[in-house]
Amino acid sequence: MNTNQELEKLAVTAEDLHADLKSEKPLLVFDLRLKEYFTHEHIEGSVHAVCDSRAKETIMPRIPKGVKIVLIDEDGTMSAETAGMMVSYGLDAHFLRGGIKSWNKNLVRKDTHTIISPEELWSKIKKKEGDLVLVDVRQPDEFSDFKIQGSINIPLSELFNKESLNKIPKGKQVVTICPHGNRSMVAAFALARNGIDALSLAGGLAGWGQVLNPRIITREKVTILQVEKIGKGCLSYIVGSNGEAIVIDPVYPAEKYVEFARDEGLHIVKVIDTHQHADHVSAARDLAKLTNSKLYMSRYEQYDFESNRIGDGDIINVSNSKIRTIHTPGHTGGSLSYLLDEKYVFTGDVLFVEGIGRPDLRNKAKEFANDLYETLHNKLLTLPSETMVLPAHHDERTLSKNGTYYTSIKEAKNLSILGLLHDAFVEKVVDTTLPKPMNYEKIIQINKSSQPVPTSDVANLEIGPNRCAVSSA
Ligand SMILES: [Fe+2]
Repeated sequence: MNTNQELEKLAVTAEDLHADLKSEKPLLVFDLRLKEYFTHEHIEGSVHAVCDSRAKETIMPRIPKGVKIVLIDEDGTMSAETAGMMVSYGLDAHFLRGGIKSWNKNLVRKDTHTIISPEELWSKIKKKEGDLVLVDVRQPDEFSDFKIQGSINIPLSELFNKESLNKIPKGKQVVTICPHGNRSMVAAFALARNGIDALSLAGGLAGWGQVLNPRIITREKVTILQVEKIGKGCLSYIVGSNGEAIVIDPVYPAEKYVEFARDEGLHIVKVIDTHQHADHVSAARDLAKLTNSKLYMSRYEQYDFESNRIGDGDIINVSNSKIRTIHTPGHTGGSLSYLLDEKYVFTGDVLFVEGIGRPDLRNKAKEFANDLYETLHNKLLTLPSETMVLPAHHDERTLSKNGTYYTSIKEAKNLSILGLLHDAFVEKVVDTTLPKPMNYEKIIQINKSSQPVPTSDVANLEIGPNRCAVSSA
């Protein structure tokens, strides 16, 4: 489509557009002018859009078929060409003849933010700011698999129908959510057409999965910071005293640990993992490189890169603190737990606040379930009752204590699964079939290998919930 005559067929008049905006038909009105002109004044219900190659690849394919699109520019020339291009992509695109100059109705002036970063969203949720309503625009099956807590599900195509809009509480700041921030952008456009201001979560759930939140566990003799990867529930730790720190089970983005440690007056000198993770990409290697720190990994697991190998009984010193290594197989064959100053135990994915690690991610469920029983009953539960247990995960149901997740050996003894005798325990653990973490085989390979992984791949690989636990219930 390129002759003027053909393009002319795509023209709508200001009267047509006015009528369309008043109707309930599925419609998107894109204003292609410079952002400052749009911000100064624009047609109510329109959104600012840039038609570049990224938009062609990411936004255009997400626009549901059957939605009428009207493009606006200064005078109806560039918008006509763009409408022609969009029609060739199968969209029902039109342009406003004569552009904004032909519009003889009211124009509005409005704040034109259309996106919110995952960090900004987290900060608003944490501070309970802004009366938010989170609208997840994925399909119901995607939504039921995992979601941001408190979000509601209205699939994108339904946002073009007025009845679905009634599900959105009035007078709140709407944030639209999807896997990578493309569908949610179209959703924000669809809501704007209906007079609802919405912000699209930039980078979507993949971006959300990379937000880290540090919380203080203690600042007594030793400082312990629990760092939560909020989208996944991964828990990692910065442990320090007298200016020096060790990081346990770091996740990406690795550079955040440097910042969190610095805020506590610490600098990172050592990095360790509890085990070869299957649900997230370990940032241990990169963090050790970044901070010029010593890297420690389990002697009982295979890694294709250089590190200091540690095993049962080894001691790692961090300033005046001592970390004693305990071999605690069961979730993986090489899992290690770290007992800090005989008071705190970092249990990785072996013992959680409300459950125990799953033994089936290495295809040796029965053998590992036996190990798990031995580890729990003959090693971890024999520690003094008041020992604080700091795991590598929590799940959606785990209640936080002032935003932190921990338990004690005393409380852990009350988990119903730990009341079972050996055979019943093994049977129960082996019989519990749970969906595996997404991409877990690929993640294990990455965590084993010496090949660097691009940061953008980390977010995509990790999208989804963590699934390392067998619930105690
Ligand atoms: Fe794990």
